[in-house]
Amino acid sequence: MNFSPDLLSLLQESSHVAALTGAGVSQESGLRTFRDAQDGLWKQYKPEDLASPEAFRRDPKLVWDWYAWRREAIKGVRPNAGHYALVEMSKHFSEFTLITQNVNGLHRFAGSPRVIELHGNIQRVRCADCYTFADEWDDDEAEVPRCPVCGGMLRPHVVWFGEALPRSELEAAVEAARNSEVFFSIGTSGVVQPAASLAHAARNRGAVIIEINAEPTPLTPKADYFLQGRSGEILPELVKATWK
Ligand code: OAD
Repeated sequence: MNFSPDLLSLLQESSHVAALTGAGVSQESGLRTFRDAQDGLWKQYKPEDLASPEAFRRDPKLVWDWYAWRREAIKGVRPNAGHYALVEMSKHFSEFTLITQNVNGLHRFAGSPRVIELHGNIQRVRCADCYTFADEWDDDEAEVPRCPVCGGMLRPHVVWFGEALPRSELEAAVEAARNSEVFFSIGTSGVVQPAASLAHAARNRGAVIIEINAEPTPLTPKADYFLQGRSGEILPELVKATWK
């Protein structure tokens, strides 16, 4: 891809940068995006119908099993060139905050130093009642595993539809967005709040918005630069072109 010289010098001169990523950055690691159809056993369900407190109340075991299946599915998954390019990018700015909506932990796996996991992490499990984190549990039991402290049901440490985001993570993300000179929105459809509003918060404070996505999104008309294509290709090319 040919990048405009303005974009390259902007990146060379910036010091405060934030990036928001979504399911698109994991697509080249072999993971489906959130709004793609599910496969196998889970084809009949929409993620929105399983990822909610109501679904867990109605049928906790069904929701538990879905997450157990998803944890299993990401076991062999590795970060891709886009994740590694973001690690490289972080070395060139005095402040670089990576904010992700992904729960798969691939940014940390790749070695990104500061990652705000806005929607939690699928590998972590906590009590639905007393919030105690569990290190061990058995996915093969007939019932949802129980909290060793209070006996409540365990659940994945992710944000479900209708739930509030963890406050400290959200505050840190808003602050990083508002302090950024450049804000990247990468591989996210930008339709789920409050994550989607981060780009607008950054823009209102004067940040330059760079969007990288396979398709245009509702943010595209507001972006200063829209780089259309796969993040696993564009990000490494951008890093190379900027700091060769
Ligand atoms: P989506 O599945 O909504 O969007 C994925 C985006 O990635 C789309 O805009 C695609 O065009 C783009 N895309 C796909 N492949 C790509 C690639 N290789 N390179 C670049 N872009 C690519 O996923 P999210 O925006 O992450 O929340 O969804 C946001 C949130 O919605 C999720 O975190 C989840 C869901 O509700 C919760 O679970 C709370």
